[in-house]
Amino acid sequence: MRRPMIAGNWKLNKTIAEACDLSTTLAQQLADVTAVDIIIAPVFTALSSVAATIKNSPVKLAGQNCYPVETGAFTGEVSPLMLKDAGCDYVIIGHSERRQLLDETDGFINQKMLKALEAGLKPILCVGETLQEREGNQILEVLTAQIKDGLVNLSADQMAEVVIAYEPVWAIGTGKTASDEQAQEAHSFIRGMLQGLFNQQVATQTRILYGGSVKPANVDGLMAMDDIDGALVGGASLKAEDFMRLVRFQAQ
Ligand code: 13P
Repeated sequence: MRRPMIAGNWKLNKTIAEACDLSTTLAQQLADVTAVDIIIAPVFTALSSVAATIKNSPVKLAGQNCYPVETGAFTGEVSPLMLKDAGCDYVIIGHSERRQLLDETDGFINQKMLKALEAGLKPILCVGETLQEREGNQILEVLTAQIKDGLVNLSADQMAEVVIAYEPVWAIGTGKTASDEQAQEAHSFIRGMLQGLFNQQVATQTRILYGGSVKPANVDGLMAMDDIDGALVGGASLKAEDFMRLVRFQAQ
């Protein structure tokens, strides 16, 4: 019912040549995949070169961030319009690294969501608690604020284009994955919130990805959970073999 999605967030890695090598391999070797949405998010400078290598393949392109203005005097920023122009269909918004290192707020993230949708991009909204918040029993409070404030002024129709990624900060790049049950619990909570904020249809149709040390060894268990519809992957998305195994997950 919900189409699975495996998305690779390449973060600040790979030159244009390295990015094109990897995207060319993925486009060739995943050409037969029809049942999974496959997304890769290279650095901005590699986007248009990578776009050329994945044309007519099931692999689609995402930006890792955007600025919520179309054009103007905003030195160093990239707009949703520019991402579309470079070949992107998706954009990652509100990644925890940006929330933490660059102090991005839910309000700013919400502006990006609205502008990305206006430009015809599908936003992947990242949410998730820190270790301190988990230990302080604040998970639900944190997720509630991030989801509610991140989705202000979005319509139920617009939600058809939105993907949510639950990425507990303590599991990112640490090798510590949330257990299948911990992830399922957070996903189910988020789905319940979507019902309250929008309606039953939005709750049932919205894809919720899990992110945080997803690798070939744990993907199958995670994907077998009822409310986990895919993965947003950092480290393991940089290696062709690993990423392809994730795309070919075997949920029981
Ligand atoms: P890792 O898969 O390296 O833990 O990164 C997860 C992530 O931040 C994806 O956006």
